[in-house]
Amino acid sequence: MLESGRITLKEYESAQKGDIFDRNEDEIRAGRIGSMLGVAEPEKINRLQRIAVEESRLHIPLLIGCDVIHGFNTVFPTPLAESCCFDDELFEQTATVSAKEARAAGINWIFAPMIDISRDARWGRIAESMGQDTFLAQRYAERKVKGYQGDDLSSKEKIACCAKHFLAYGACEGGKDYNSVDMSFSKLYDVYLPPFKNAIDAGVASVMTSFNDINGVPVTTNKRLLKSLLREDLGFEGVVVSDASAIEETVNHGYSANSLEAAKNALDAGVDVDMISRSYIDFLEELLKQKRIKIEDIDNAVRNVLRLKIALGLFDNPYCDEKELAAISCKKEHLNLAKKSALHSTVLLKNNGVLPINKNKFKNILLIGELGAKISENYGCWAFYGKDEYAVTLKSALEKEGVNYAECYGVKKDFDEQEFKAAAANADLIIATFGENSSMSGEAHSYADISLSKPQKKAVRYLKNSKIPFISVLYNGRPMCIPELDEDSDAVIEAWQLGTKAGEALADIIFGRFNPYGKLTTNFPYKSGECPSYYNHMSTGRPASSNSAPWTSKYDDGRVKPVYSFGQGLSYTDFEYSNLKLEKQKNFVKVSVKVANVGKVDGHETVQLYIHDKFASKVRPVRELKGYKKVFLKRGESKKIEFDLPYDNLGFYNENLEYVVEKGEFEVFVGTDSLCTYKAEFTL
Ligand code: GLC
Repeated sequence: MLESGRITLKEYESAQKGDIFDRNEDEIRAGRIGSMLGVAEPEKINRLQRIAVEESRLHIPLLIGCDVIHGFNTVFPTPLAESCCFDDELFEQTATVSAKEARAAGINWIFAPMIDISRDARWGRIAESMGQDTFLAQRYAERKVKGYQGDDLSSKEKIACCAKHFLAYGACEGGKDYNSVDMSFSKLYDVYLPPFKNAIDAGVASVMTSFNDINGVPVTTNKRLLKSLLREDLGFEGVVVSDASAIEETVNHGYSANSLEAAKNALDAGVDVDMISRSYIDFLEELLKQKRIKIEDIDNAVRNVLRLKIALGLFDNPYCDEKELAAISCKKEHLNLAKKSALHSTVLLKNNGVLPINKNKFKNILLIGELGAKISENYGCWAFYGKDEYAVTLKSALEKEGVNYAECYGVKKDFDEQEFKAAAANADLIIATFGENSSMSGEAHSYADISLSKPQKKAVRYLKNSKIPFISVLYNGRPMCIPELDEDSDAVIEAWQLGTKAGEALADIIFGRFNPYGKLTTNFPYKSGECPSYYNHMSTGRPASSNSAPWTSKYDDGRVKPVYSFGQGLSYTDFEYSNLKLEKQKNFVKVSVKVANVGKVDGHETVQLYIHDKFASKVRPVRELKGYKKVFLKRGESKKIEFDLPYDNLGFYNENLEYVVEKGEFEVFVGTDSLCTYKAEFTL
């Protein structure tokens, strides 16, 4: 349907075909729109900027926002995948390239990083997050902001970014998207708030309010969170933008009586920009006439937005060079980084020795399943601008290695027994893809059942009965319940949704050209009903030592241990830890450990350091990640790895929201994952 505004011939012809045009040009011309989202072509963005700058009364350029969550034309692994590299440098590098490509398109504001701690795999947006650990999320947040924004937002290679979703959106009850959040503020401060503090300290330009309520008050109209916590306590001076239509939705919450009240409540709470709901544009003038809001509040919001537009250099040059994107999009170094990120984000979860594949041993290898054959399944959620011509699927990469392909089944497509029997007739090794479609995670895609679909379970049964060794390759946005793959596969590779270069990276890992070392940043529960499942849980008064321990905290139809745990990830070599030492210093404990590569090939190890505060005035998690370091060791080589563990990192927020570090006994664990038992103790 055409709305107001002029259109080009090309658009007219497109509209004739029934395309829908939501034209906002007249609204921009009238000065009623200050920022846009949903446009990503340089020419179109320049046209809108030209209308704002040359035809509107105040000539104020537009903020052009976009969800560049894990790359633009060059698509990187989804954030949950990327978090598994535990590589702060890499977090920043992928953000830097994303900023270059997006800014070249004329976009000047992106709605990333998403830094919601996510403990519930039923929540589709866990795929957009960096997992369930606060310590990792803090470093991820800081490096992403540095990568996107750099030191000068007016640079045409940098972009304003947005820490989202403030606050605790990932704690939505039952993992059901948009659902209520109810928790103590001390837990909010311990678990969900710290990554936002790091983002703000790193200079993040904007913060987005989340859809959820916290303890009955929608965040978008929550003065305690947005004014006293975000502005006063954390000192945030940037732009606060609501999530899409979140202001208006406070009516649905049953908090604002109507849209006019919603506009007042959001402005009173300090929201500067109303995304999409039109509450501000339709009601602020009325509220001003009724003297129910003050012009100073509107001025404050406008000032925050103008400051950002000035910092972006938009008043000096609001236009992008329309040739720049084509010149840098998916250029070689961007694609090389995409492949590096994919290699470092892949997690080897099981291997009985079948990997890396020995081509002298296996002469007839077959790939099956839909997920490795479609470019769309490389990308995952929030990847609308990937350039398919550069994308490599697992199928295309393996065919170059002489591997045959037959689809046989899909996530929804039933298992074709005949096709499988014919294709597998001479196979001596099978690579089978399992998981979920890209469309099954991300926003508004929560699932009550996160186990394999029926066709996939059927495929596992046929594979098992075929007696042909098989390697499972997982394509998934969220962690899934895959006990049957762990039990029946000869190897399990967590391939997530690795982006443009997914296929090439996986082929290098499968044939041993790269030794994987990714580590999970979430648990993989045994059953959906065990969600939320996270490693840094409390002990409870009756911790379950086994699946059969009576009168203990567990599910009778579940398992005490998840199928895979936070921090887990194998290598083609083996590492041994020894000489763990603690040396108490004035303000920190120096932790040192010797790590040796005792296997047959060179490889990386991500050394992890966890603490356990044994007794405190508030019970503490059984493990808390407080350090990680990546080390490369040639086979036979060993190195001494050291961590400085500040006493100040051992604290927590008490019920009065005071950060306290209490004296007492601490265990320090160092190892290859959150299950490590190698420990030393000290008393603070
Ligand atoms: C969506 C998402 C948010 C995104 C925004 C703009 O609903 O919640 O993460 O940035 O709207 O697309």
